[in-house]
Amino acid sequence: MDVALIATINKLQDALAPLGGGSQSPIDLPQITVVGSQSSGKSSVLENIVGRDFLPRGTGIVTRRPLVLQLINKRPKKANDDLLEIHNDDQSKGGQSEDNANEWGEFLHIPNKKFYNFDEIRQEIVIETDKTTGKNAGISSVPINLRIYSPHVLTLTLVDLPGLTKVPVGDQPADIEKQIKDMLLKYISKPNAIILSVNAANTDLANSDGLKLAREVDPEGTRTIGVLTKVDLMDQGTDVIDILAGRVIPLRYGYIPVINRGQKDIEAKKTIRSALDDERRYFENHSSYSSKAHYCGTPYLAKKLNSILLHHIRQTLPDIKNKIEVTLKKYQTELMSLGPETMDSPNSIVLSMITDFSKEYTGILDGEAKELSSQELSGGARIS
Ligand code: GDP
Ligand code: NA
Ligand code: MG
Repeated sequence: MDVALIATINKLQDALAPLGGGSQSPIDLPQITVVGSQSSGKSSVLENIVGRDFLPRGTGIVTRRPLVLQLINKRPKKANDDLLEIHNDDQSKGGQSEDNANEWGEFLHIPNKKFYNFDEIRQEIVIETDKTTGKNAGISSVPINLRIYSPHVLTLTLVDLPGLTKVPVGDQPADIEKQIKDMLLKYISKPNAIILSVNAANTDLANSDGLKLAREVDPEGTRTIGVLTKVDLMDQGTDVIDILAGRVIPLRYGYIPVINRGQKDIEAKKTIRSALDDERRYFENHSSYSSKAHYCGTPYLAKKLNSILLHHIRQTLPDIKNKIEVTLKKYQTELMSLGPETMDSPNSIVLSMITDFSKEYTGILDGEAKELSSQELSGGARIS
């Protein structure tokens, strides 16, 4: 049921994509939006969650359109097992899993094509980004929708957004900082957005631009979750325990420390699997973290995000259902007033998708709109 629930929201996300995602979407869908400064490690975190290399890399603003990343666990079973598989898998295969045929990507803008080669997924993201933004590193708020099916992911929807940057490069518009900030605000100011604030642990949290922006729209920190990257690069003898304990900038969902591959690791083609192994070992063996290693690292982050998202979707279902009905009426009225020749307009396509959606799914939504046991969230995120 949990998987069906997120799949339902995914369908709606696809249906609403032509309307410009976060910015103009009439319905505020629960989704996890990733914010942080450029090079804070956002792409690395997302790739580690997926367990595959597939995001464009490089210096400058690589992410220039929102990427709505819908992860779908294809073999629904116990959540823990799936992530443990990533850890326990044999390293000797060099990270190229034997089950390549079980993992693939699909883009909303290329229906019916399965991408088994994750390098091709990366290339397609680059091509599709340039299509809307031009090559001069401009940005666009129209999302790219990508689904990844895999037995190694938890079902989860994440939106990757451009990183906060200060200095325009090349022939980028002079106001690029403001443009990016405005786009991020459009996405994260919606009350149903869960903000995944990515911060490098070797920089001062109080000066984090991403966290500042999150606090502008979520001052109490009730829908922001913090990720601390680059814990391995902190000065000897320092750690993030004060942050984890909520003594620096408290967040309701707390912070999760992770370790991604460094630039050298990537150049040496270190696999994500071995990076996840090293990450686990680091936290288990570090005197500051060993007693809390369960609440550290990428697998715990993915689990936590999955339960936060489910909790959030359940809480917002009645409201989403209402909005769908209102939106449906509004589009129907609009289209009728415009006459029959508009029946192939983008709006009418969206209308028919939403109509299909609500026919097919409001039953599920009704069934799921029930109280959630608070148990699901009391996963000991807090470290004191
Ligand atoms: P983004 O711009 O926020 O998407 O950041 P990236 O994921 O591209 O990471 C920027 C750089 O920091 C890359 O060279 C990464 O290899 C490196 N990096 C990210 N996370 C970590 C980490 O936890 N530890 C180390 N040592 N390097 C990291
Ligand atoms: Na980058
Ligand atoms: Mg990036």
